[in-house]
Amino acid sequence: MEIIIQPTAEAATSIAARMIAGLLEEKPAAVLGLATGSTPLKLYGQLTRMELDWSGATTFNLDEYVGVPPDHPTSYHHFMREHLFRHVNLAPERIHLPDGLAPDIPSCCRRYEAEIRAAGGIDLQVLGIGTDGHIGFNEPTSSLASRTRIKTLTPQTRRDNARFFGSEEQVPHHVITMGIGTIMDARHCVLLAFGEKKARAIAQAAEGPITAMNPASALQQHPRVTFLLDEPAASELK
Ligand code: F6R
Repeated sequence: MEIIIQPTAEAATSIAARMIAGLLEEKPAAVLGLATGSTPLKLYGQLTRMELDWSGATTFNLDEYVGVPPDHPTSYHHFMREHLFRHVNLAPERIHLPDGLAPDIPSCCRRYEAEIRAAGGIDLQVLGIGTDGHIGFNEPTSSLASRTRIKTLTPQTRRDNARFFGSEEQVPHHVITMGIGTIMDARHCVLLAFGEKKARAIAQAAEGPITAMNPASALQQHPRVTFLLDEPAASELK
């Protein structure tokens, strides 16, 4: 596990942006795993300003809320369109997010896994981390071997994400998320974390026992993982 600590979120983000730019140059048909939330906002901003060629790339997002239509402002489809997809030359047919309106969720999840395999697997997976250690929406107690499936959000995550919905009551209870096993199959995992409120989850993920109680701790067993942190997020590391 490589841990890179930078004075600011901007500086840490620049490293991730350069990694992605380098990958797209070296492998124009790269497969990228993408995340949503506050953490990668600066990353998408930097990437769109770099004017990279995305025409051969394929993307898979980690997760989507169940029951939220793709054009709704709180959906991750909408988030990705606004912050990245509409600014770059990605082919629409190579953009993938779980279908939060799927009538048959188990078969939608199996299809998502099959699409990732058919694309040749994920070259670089961008990750954020929840204050409870979740990656994707693999909440504490998730199986470390899990694949894409429906998950129930914890009250903690629904409180954390209430800022996107106006109130906690409006945050959906269920999501479709890649599993920890799915994430661990990516060839390179790049986890970004900023701010003091992520410090405990980061310390447990990087230096604590590997446990389903902190799903990000599974990354200790990944052969190529980079944590990009600002100083406050790194403040509880030993
Ligand atoms: C989002 C995702 C989540 C977030 C995490 C942190 O696609 O998979 O794991 O990365 O909840 O969210 P923020 O960045 O909003 O603190």
